[in-house]
Amino acid sequence: MESYRKLLEANQAWAAEKLRTSPDFFRGLAKEQKPEFLWIGCSDSRVPAEEVTGTQPGEIFTHRNIANLVNPTDLNLQGVVSFAVEFLKVKHIIVCGHYGCGGIKAALSKQRYGILDDWLRQIKDTFFRHEDEVRDAGGFDAQADKLVELNVHEQLRNLVKSKVIQQAWVEERRPTLHGWVYNLSDGRLKNLYKIEPGAHMHDIYQFDFGR
Ligand code: CO
Repeated sequence: MESYRKLLEANQAWAAEKLRTSPDFFRGLAKEQKPEFLWIGCSDSRVPAEEVTGTQPGEIFTHRNIANLVNPTDLNLQGVVSFAVEFLKVKHIIVCGHYGCGGIKAALSKQRYGILDDWLRQIKDTFFRHEDEVRDAGGFDAQADKLVELNVHEQLRNLVKSKVIQQAWVEERRPTLHGWVYNLSDGRLKNLYKIEPGAHMHDIYQFDFGR
């Protein structure tokens, strides 16, 4: 059997099982979505947002890219954040990195990966700002894992700097921002950072919303 066919067959079985345990499952979801969470994670196939958090369809609005970056010029990401915050009114945004991230390792090396070199460059900037802390972590893999954590924090800061987040903070005291790191080796999420609405930021990043 061709490998992709097992996905279609598994889908038939999954849908039937959902209906068996909850006959209205799809009817409810087909009407609307009201997710409380926006997940910004790595594209890595080993970190499926719903599965590692035990959530069901309808619970998490998701954006994934290589190394879970929040890039202000990424129209895709910014559209997702804007829709999640302004229309879905999510209460929490989770930026989730993972130890052993290939994107982070690539940024820490001199290896060339084509267009990804530009995508990943902001990770080198994060290294540059925290060079001593990263080098003190140990060998290459330990340094990469430290950079995974720092990168997650940097992406939270990128969210704080955005007008969409600041406006929601001023008007509705949400969303709360969370920085997590997933451990591929034991399946556990580490809860590392939390930034509450209205958290301090340098004056230069603050927009004036006339209040
Ligand atoms: Co990754």
